[in-house]
Amino acid sequence: MSRSPSEPASPGLDPGRPVLAVEGLHITVAGGRTEAVRDVSFTVRAGEAVGVVGESGSGKTLTCRSLLGVLPPGCAVSAGSARLDGAELTSLSPRAWEELRAVRLGAVFQDPASYLNPSLTVGRQLAEPLRVRLGLSRTEAHARAVELFGSVGLHRPAEVYHRYPHELSGGMLQRVLIAVAVACEPRLLVADEATTALDTVVQAEVLDLLARLRDDLGLALLLVTHDLAVVAEVTDRVMVFYAGEIVEDGPTAEVVSRPAHPYTAALLSVASAGDWHRRELAVIPGRPPEAGAEPPGCRFADRCAFAEDRCRTARIPLATGADGRRVRCVRAAELAETLADPFRPAAVGPASAGPVSLDSAPVESTPIEEVSA
Ligand SMILES: Nc1ncnc2c1ncn2[C@@H]1O[C@H](COP(=O)(O)OP(=O)(O)OP(=O)(O)O)[C@@H](O)[C@H]1O
Ligand code: SF4
Ligand SMILES: [Mg+2]
Repeated sequence: MSRSPSEPASPGLDPGRPVLAVEGLHITVAGGRTEAVRDVSFTVRAGEAVGVVGESGSGKTLTCRSLLGVLPPGCAVSAGSARLDGAELTSLSPRAWEELRAVRLGAVFQDPASYLNPSLTVGRQLAEPLRVRLGLSRTEAHARAVELFGSVGLHRPAEVYHRYPHELSGGMLQRVLIAVAVACEPRLLVADEATTALDTVVQAEVLDLLARLRDDLGLALLLVTHDLAVVAEVTDRVMVFYAGEIVEDGPTAEVVSRPAHPYTAALLSVASAGDWHRRELAVIPGRPPEAGAEPPGCRFADRCAFAEDRCRTARIPLATGADGRRVRCVRAAELAETLADPFRPAAVGPASAGPVSLDSAPVESTPIEEVSA
């Protein structure tokens, strides 16, 4: 499992082309009646770790699941494109999805136990795909599985091979799932809240493991998390989702130190002012629009302290700046300095409070440097 990051994963692949290219993706739920993800576009390159953050219900998991071909019943990609190494994913047959998932796409989710068969040893669950997908013999698959278990940091991997899922801790199960996910050296690894259920020490170890695998295998990594500290530590770029849309996207170090969208600024202020050990995103006042609601302009306007009449007239585009950062806010340019100030005014006010002037007195705020602490 060692490949230099600069070495292409498969011969013939264009190293300049993104591993994953998503363009104008829309996802509907409730049998097509409600649009939950709208016009999402982004790329992930080999060896790049891209973070996805946003409040609960903002569309992070649906986006990931659409890329893995495992949308829940009643949910569907209604428009747009997602390409893996140039090959379209949205029109794949179930059989083609199965083959792709086993070899070129890896996934790790929050609850590893539910993705493993309780009646089979974890070793068998890793060795089986190695035999089927890579054509290894029984002996070779066993040896490779033990090697993989060792490389994801499981102690006494030869013994772990014979354990059933219920005999392992949550951290061990997550490592098993990561071993399964990377067994065939996929091009893209999607990790959706993969470390949320783990204690902080195990979480740090698993994140280190993902970062190492990214480097060793040149994996493209899409990492969904509620934890801004994880984003700051692990990712190169971060996309901020709000109510089914990307509202900001840019290099992580720049986004966390100079947020360009009021919602991102609010996330960072709440994280730094709240319980820093948990650093979760859930306590911003107000609520996003109901699923299916179509406010005429900015979907964040009812919670935004900087909202003006012009924010509510037409849909706000995700504009790309000269520096390549993308932001969905008509006032982004004029708010840039205010939002970059660690002692910025609150970016969110209760909807009933109405717009807050840029000149209003700063409210309680904590220096933003803490975010990357
Ligand atoms: N199976 C489903 N059926 C109907 N609606 C769904 C389904 N799954 C998700 N949704 C809706 O789609 C929207 C986006 O959900 P999604 O699970 O992608 O959010 P999320 O950003 O991953 O949230 P969380 O942080 O809580 O995991 C939500 O409004 C949710 O209620
Ligand atoms: S300033 Fe206007 S466009 Fe920008 S986030 Fe606030 S409401 Fe939306
Ligand atoms: Mg989710």
